[in-house]
Amino acid sequence: ENDIQSKLPLRGKKILITAGPTYEAIDPVRFIGNHSTGKMGFDIANEASKLGAEVILISGPTNQKVKYPVQLVNVVSAQEMYDECHQYFNEVDVAICAAAVADYKPKVVADQKIKKSDAEFSIELEKTKDILASLGKLKRNQFLIGFALETENEIENAKLKIQKKNLDLIVLNSLNDEGAGFGKPTNKITFIDKNFNIEPRELKSKELVAEDILEKVVLSFNN
Ligand code: CTP
Ligand code: CA
Repeated sequence: ENDIQSKLPLRGKKILITAGPTYEAIDPVRFIGNHSTGKMGFDIANEASKLGAEVILISGPTNQKVKYPVQLVNVVSAQEMYDECHQYFNEVDVAICAAAVADYKPKVVADQKIKKSDAEFSIELEKTKDILASLGKLKRNQFLIGFALETENEIENAKLKIQKKNLDLIVLNSLNDEGAGFGKPTNKITFIDKNFNIEPRELKSKELVAEDILEKVVLSFNN
């Protein structure tokens, strides 16, 4: 029993994870998206499942495959991801938002393919809903983890996100470093917790970053 518990420290826990980009439709054939591959979120989901957790993975469009038992919920837009997250949040113990959610979407979606003309063309955008901030407002006992992607004043901006979104932990991604971030197999992260303890980590594979993140989750249950 002790052996199983140490190998499956998240047995009996439910974890909600978001991954991938979102696509915001412009017309029936076009969208606004981003370069997220979903790898970080899928690696977190696999690792959580390996540790015995029941995993609900809500993902935007990616080419990733799950390697361990995971309940995969496919979505396309930020609004769909928002709806699915709110569907499950009440029943989970942990939520980890690793998705690169679009901040803006076209205000109107054309029902027909937009034709080119000689005139200039622009698209009016409006804000999407912030999923993580909304979960932060609804939070009761859940351990809530967000990511932050910053290119300047990294630590200060990440701390502001912890407060604004009511997080327990933020994973700050350093895009500045060679070999870290979008489309890369590695990440250079810094953990910052709600008490503003700062823990920089070495550049490592996203699988190993996922292990580090789940280690934080396991520790949160032992306190
Ligand atoms: N996030 C979210 N819903 C959104 C936007 C962001 O859930 N509509 C989550 C991301 O999954 C991530 C965290 O919020 O965990 C931070 O995302 P980031 O893009 O770094 O921050 P923003 O709050 O969007 O602010 P900005 O892009 O201006 O830095
Ligand atoms: Ca953003």
